[in-house]
Amino acid sequence: MNLAIDALSVSYGSTEALSDFTLDVSDGERFAIMGPSGSGKSTLLRAVAGLIPSDSGTIVINGIDMTNTPAHRRPVGLMFQDYALFPHMDVVHNVAYGLRMEGVPAQDRMARSRDLLDLVGLPGFENRVPTTLSGGEQQRVALARTLAPEPSVILLDEPLASLDFSLRQSLLAEMRAILDAVGATSIYVTHDSSEAFAFGDRMAVMREGEIVRMGAPDEIWYEPRSEFVASAIGQSNLVPMSTIGIARDGVAFVPLDATTVRAAGQLSGVVVDSRFEDGARIATLAMPDGASRLDVQVSQEAIAGVTITFDVDQSRIIVVSASEV
Ligand SMILES: Nc1ncnc2c1ncn2[C@@H]1O[C@H](COP(=O)(O)OP(=O)(O)OP(=O)(O)O)[C@@H](O)[C@H]1O
Ligand SMILES: [Mg+2]
Repeated sequence: MNLAIDALSVSYGSTEALSDFTLDVSDGERFAIMGPSGSGKSTLLRAVAGLIPSDSGTIVINGIDMTNTPAHRRPVGLMFQDYALFPHMDVVHNVAYGLRMEGVPAQDRMARSRDLLDLVGLPGFENRVPTTLSGGEQQRVALARTLAPEPSVILLDEPLASLDFSLRQSLLAEMRAILDAVGATSIYVTHDSSEAFAFGDRMAVMREGEIVRMGAPDEIWYEPRSEFVASAIGQSNLVPMSTIGIARDGVAFVPLDATTVRAAGQLSGVVVDSRFEDGARIATLAMPDGASRLDVQVSQEAIAGVTITFDVDQSRIIVVSASEV
């Protein structure tokens, strides 16, 4: 096991930000963690990097207990959302910074930094200064700088959060390929479920300093198990069972593509909103119980106030627990 975090707890004064947190990430694995703001994601990464102390628990990297090892002696690289490049240094010196700290000879560190700039898709950028780079380019430099000292474990704290949507998608795919190419073990934290699903070999959902669900992305999508996880992963309906015509207690998680509008459908609702989203036209319906809303895919614009009759593929419905996790 490359990174083993066992029963780790971290508090800020009386606030426990991480409680009894246990996670094993294997060699070369890409692990994603998603959770809402304040759930303890950054705290976890800072504790693993050694930037904040833990109250209890252990952090073992490559079989060595590093719980009390100072940050600069841990084989860990941490990359943040705000690139934090050194503004007065050109790109190649930014990348080489960590190598200089390690005492790598100048010629070697420049050669290695140039190789890394090639790897992150920035050949020829050596002598540019950070202020002349776009946000995406700055994040590539930050990634190269994080990779330079060849850390065993790479921690990524919402590294793409300040970039626009299409750039996030393409850079995420590139980052996956780069991390695989260097054989790094990584943890990527984000509040964005699509990034977490796209990044990880495995992923976890966090809430209030704890993991509430962990598994492969498809396991989590098809078996969210709790209302909290189902609502965190989004993009689907989450309604009482009775709303979709099933006389049973509990909450139904209905993927959008399990709803089909057709004349002879079994359920109906009144259109309250209609929009184009992710390549499909979606109508939000107010259901007869008066409280529930259900999104369905429609083939043409639905007009507010109109009643739509539709069918739900009952075999696609996932039952989740309504209780708190
Ligand atoms: N330096 C600090 N002092 C006191 N409390 C803190 C400190 N840093 C974080 N906290 C608290 O610890 C909890 C976890 O914070 P953390 O930054 O780890 O969350 P997060 O999941 O990274 O959130 P976000 O998605 O907003 O970045 C929050 O309740 C936060 O207010
Ligand atoms: Mg954070």
